[in-house]
Amino acid sequence: MVNTPISKEIVDKKIKENNIADVGKASIRVIKKLIDEIEKETGEKFVRMEMGVPGLPPAQVGVAAEIDALKRGVAAIYPDIHGIPELKNEISRFVRLFLDVDVKPTGCIPTVGSMQGSFAAFLLMNNLHEGKDTTLFLDPGFPVHKQQHRVLDLKFESFDVYNYRGEKLRNKLESFLSKGNISCMLYSNPNNPSWICFTEMELKIIAEMAEKYNVIIMEDLAYFGMDFRKDYSKPGFPPFQPTVAKYTDKWILFISSSKAFSYAGQRIGMMVISDALFNLKSERIKTRFSSDIFGNAMIFGTVYSLSSGTAHSAQYALAAILKAANDGDFNFRNDVLEYGKKAHIMKKLFVENGFNIVYDKDLDEPIADGFYFTYSYPGYSGEELLKEMLYYGVSAISLAITGSEKTEGMRACVSLVKRDQFAALEERLKCFNLNNPY
Ligand SMILES: Cc1ncc(COP(=O)(O)O)c(C=O)c1O
Repeated sequence: MVNTPISKEIVDKKIKENNIADVGKASIRVIKKLIDEIEKETGEKFVRMEMGVPGLPPAQVGVAAEIDALKRGVAAIYPDIHGIPELKNEISRFVRLFLDVDVKPTGCIPTVGSMQGSFAAFLLMNNLHEGKDTTLFLDPGFPVHKQQHRVLDLKFESFDVYNYRGEKLRNKLESFLSKGNISCMLYSNPNNPSWICFTEMELKIIAEMAEKYNVIIMEDLAYFGMDFRKDYSKPGFPPFQPTVAKYTDKWILFISSSKAFSYAGQRIGMMVISDALFNLKSERIKTRFSSDIFGNAMIFGTVYSLSSGTAHSAQYALAAILKAANDGDFNFRNDVLEYGKKAHIMKKLFVENGFNIVYDKDLDEPIADGFYFTYSYPGYSGEELLKEMLYYGVSAISLAITGSEKTEGMRACVSLVKRDQFAALEERLKCFNLNNPY
């Protein structure tokens, strides 16, 4: 056995001190705190891949516009709940130019991060129609969405799409939707954690099934344009970011500014409601959500009661970022392409040292290199691997907390790993591989 780079004693002590019964099942934030403490005590830097935070500077055009807005005094004034007109117009333009989809500015609503948008949407969706009170997650997925359901005391069902790609998705969806209790379904594309991307054919199937069973689709575009196999960054020109909105008319898109524009700290995202859904009427929501019109209930019922809108200055920042992107003056893809380049190198290091990539294909095409990748090691469950690799100074999260059936897998996020850490990563993976022959 080669000595592990991090003291086993300290790792075990810190796990105990933090009262973590099972590290493999711990949430992302709990793992983060644990690693912070181990790093402090050992003086050793981990290769940190547990948290999906941007590792790049924020879009500068946004920072400048935000400073300017603050100097003009917007901090003193409540913003409109539905968003400032400049931003609503730019969101609508963005959707047309980068998704090739038309939506009126009325349905383009800034939210306090895309997390607030989904929270508001889950609440409203599951109260629209009698008996339709359950969300379907196309997993693997972002654990916080399920946490939102627990907090709201809402029901959800889920399945891992791994074995149901392509045409197989149709029957699988039908088996859930035909029961009649599903109000909405949610997936992220590209997917956190697996980085799979649905094909146009799969998006069409999702749309057809949703229409057949009167289910609303929530498409989480937290990683907008970050399937780097294609260049989705030219406004008004194909290829466009794939979206279900091309195939049906009742949808909500959540477009986060956190990753594509590295603007996570200002907590601003976009909830884009299709025109048809915005105008949908339901007597059932009238009293509780203050309007029988879906869009108005969302704005004046739900978003109003959550935060009375989104920070004023951040709205100016996002408006400026989108305007620059829409006008072709800011190529956001160029700024974040580095994630894909790093992922390519890191995946290679893992594979060369005995690890496997878990989610590796979109049908017959290799998945993109991007913000996340998934890996496993023969003989280990994800939960065991998470713990074991702490002794090697490599941190990630187990896929088990994401609804994945691939319980041997781990999710790695490339954003915080610096290129000058690649040598350390390689050395640690080699050491792990030496100590774990198979
Ligand atoms: C799939 C997914 N959805 C939503 C979010 C949250 O986005 P925001 O920062 O805009 O709230 C994340 C962040 O990691 C994510 O991975």
